[in-house]
Amino acid sequence: MPPSSSPPIDVRRYNSRAWDVAVELGSEWTLPVDAATVAAARRGDWSIVLTPVKPIPAEWFPPFDNARILCLASGGGQQGPVLAAAGEAAGASVVVFDNSPRQLERDREVARRDKLPLKTVEGDMRDLSRFADATFDLIVHPCSNLFVPDVRPVWREAARVLKPGGVLLSGFINPILYLFDQKKADDGVLEVRHRLPYSDLTSIAAEERSEYMAAQEALEFGHTLTDQIAGQIEAGLAITGFYEDGWPGMALHEYTEMFIGTRATKI
Ligand SMILES: C[S@@+](CC[C@H](N)C(=O)[O-])C[C@H]1O[C@@H](n2cnc3c(N)ncnc32)[C@H](O)[C@@H]1O
Repeated sequence: MPPSSSPPIDVRRYNSRAWDVAVELGSEWTLPVDAATVAAARRGDWSIVLTPVKPIPAEWFPPFDNARILCLASGGGQQGPVLAAAGEAAGASVVVFDNSPRQLERDREVARRDKLPLKTVEGDMRDLSRFADATFDLIVHPCSNLFVPDVRPVWREAARVLKPGGVLLSGFINPILYLFDQKKADDGVLEVRHRLPYSDLTSIAAEERSEYMAAQEALEFGHTLTDQIAGQIEAGLAITGFYEDGWPGMALHEYTEMFIGTRATKI
């Protein structure tokens, strides 16, 4: 008899539901900005993040005059509404693209409340085929490519839909985070356990994965720096800015920053 095997996991579908659940549970990445933040952004007083703490440097943004802005895998009512408010007077418009209907509903709630020039589109960050080549002046892509098994298509699609000279601002995780046993790290113990790249599909046993999935936690992937940085360059982007950021409270934070922000321009 052939060994029994479980059906393959549809990561996109599973993670869509997992992020809907995160909205229900009130995860910090699902809490929309308030009306005061939007009003301040309209007055020119604003900042947004790609990584947990550090704001994106103000000089990284291109002019907002009639700019078309894509917030990529960026639902939750955070970056999109702030950019829509900040760019409104200059004629900018924002599309928030995400895989979770509930995350996108957060953006629509803020847009309705504060009458913002913002649209939402549901989809997979690896497939932006609903947008024509050279559509956007700016793409803002906060830490989210840890939720897809393959990141190279994200860079190729972002480069394709950017106008020449357009700007891609991305946050991602240094894969060093995934070297360690996650449960022990949550208890403050750093024990090297995994090879990189890391995958929730292949780096851990089915029993451990089942525990995460029973709790409806999103599946994660620790991409190599080659895929994150050379991946952008090979997609036709030039890296023009870089910073690292930390997340106080994580065990690894005592030793290193583990989040990265990059600015890239389409050649
Ligand atoms: C940590 S949240 C980032 C958004 C948040 N506004 C922030 O400040 O960082 C990760 C987002 O990625 C989205 N996501 C996960 N997989 C995706 C995929 N395949 N395509 C598009 N979005 C995806 C999730 O639904 C979630 O909204």
